[in-house]
Amino acid sequence: MSGRLGKWIVVEGIDGSGKTTQAKMLATKIDAFYTYEPGDSLVGEDVRNVLLKSEKTLHPLTEVFLLQADRIEHLQKIIIPKLEEGKNVVCDRYVGSTFAYQGYGRGVEFDKLESIVNIAISKVMPDLTILYDLPSEEVESRLAGRSTDRIENEGKEFRKRVEQGYKALSKRFGWKVIDASGSIDEVANRTLGEIKSAFGEAWIGNIDG
Ligand code: TYD
Repeated sequence: MSGRLGKWIVVEGIDGSGKTTQAKMLATKIDAFYTYEPGDSLVGEDVRNVLLKSEKTLHPLTEVFLLQADRIEHLQKIIIPKLEEGKNVVCDRYVGSTFAYQGYGRGVEFDKLESIVNIAISKVMPDLTILYDLPSEEVESRLAGRSTDRIENEGKEFRKRVEQGYKALSKRFGWKVIDASGSIDEVANRTLGEIKSAFGEAWIGNIDG
């Protein structure tokens, strides 16, 4: 890598936490490139189809390796080149999702996941990770009205484990945690507040036209 000129922000959260809406708004606000996992890579569409649309169960480690294949392509071909061009990047999910879903959700041991993930990403990490925190009970009503994929169909217990896992991960890795309750604008303002505190008023002032 020749050098990262742009800032890289990752958003994490359980399905229905509103992180995608917030990530897209943030990307517009700070003139960043919006991208997502799983799926926004050359192998992404195929990985997404197997991971999210298949009716059959997959071994948890199969999920892990499929997701890392997508991540390697995404990181090497999309994220790093954008950062090197000087573009800021907002990425919807990254390694935190693997620890939360395949680790806490599916029960794959942390050490095993860490080794596999580190091979995939060579320890290349974002400048900032934001966790949108919303109790999984609140998410149930939001998810009720929308079509769900194979992972979202796992049920309440699974979602609870993922939610609790995310909380533990945020402490372990020092992520910024944002309360995702309230209106879209309220959460967007909280997000900008965190960006300012992470990168400084001056940074946001330069790009906030
Ligand atoms: P999601 O962001 O919910 O996409 P969409 O809004 O298009 O449905 O991501 C899809 C699912 O993939 C989500 O349930 C979490 C899961 N996932 C993992 O289990 N592990 C991972 O490492 C990643 C990146 C995603």
